[in-house]
Amino acid sequence: MRILVTDSYEAMSREAAKILAGQIWLWPDTVLGLATGSTPVGMYRELVRLHRDEGLDFSQVTSFNLDEYVGLGREDDQSYQAFMHKQLFDQVNIDVAKTHVPNGKAEDIGAECERYERSIREAGGIDLQVLGIGRNAHIGFNEPDDHFARQTHRVALKESTIRANSRFFEREADVPRYAISMGIGTILKARRILLLANGREKAQAVYDAVLGDITPEHPASILQFHPQAMLILDREAASLLPNV
Ligand code: PGA
Repeated sequence: MRILVTDSYEAMSREAAKILAGQIWLWPDTVLGLATGSTPVGMYRELVRLHRDEGLDFSQVTSFNLDEYVGLGREDDQSYQAFMHKQLFDQVNIDVAKTHVPNGKAEDIGAECERYERSIREAGGIDLQVLGIGRNAHIGFNEPDDHFARQTHRVALKESTIRANSRFFEREADVPRYAISMGIGTILKARRILLLANGREKAQAVYDAVLGDITPEHPASILQFHPQAMLILDREAASLLPNV
């Protein structure tokens, strides 16, 4: 794993945006795996700036998001689809037909998971997957468990995740209890992985991901097996790592 420690959230976001932009400059028809949550917001802001000021061209880019809440769709402000439109898709020249977010409103969630996994495969797989990390070291919505999920699947969210995400909802009771998430197997198939983390509350999860035992109880720890995984951290998130 390569680790880059930056001085601030803004610096972390700029470094991450540079890597995504480089990928797009080099391979305009690249397939990106995208993440939601607070962590990548600054990276998206910087990508929008690069599009506006430096002509970064998203027109041939394909994207697949990691996850979506079951029961929420584009018209719901808290859906990840709405998040992506607000933070990125509506502000750059990406072809919306080439953007993919699991359909949280699908009648048959199992079939939707299979369809999503198949469409990633048919697009040729993900070239560069962006990840955040939960305080419990989840990636996507792959919560601590006794096994690593192979494919896109339906997840029951842990209470701690529901609590953490309730800040985006009016009431904790409004947070959906289920989500659709790429599996750990889906994520590991990405050719390159870029995990971002900032803030003291992520320090233990980052430690577990980088130096902990590789166990589904700390889902991000599996990234130690990925040949092209890079972490971009701020100093606080890196604070429990020795020698960085
Ligand atoms: P956050 O979420 O970026 O909002 O902290 C990250 C995650 O839960 O994966």
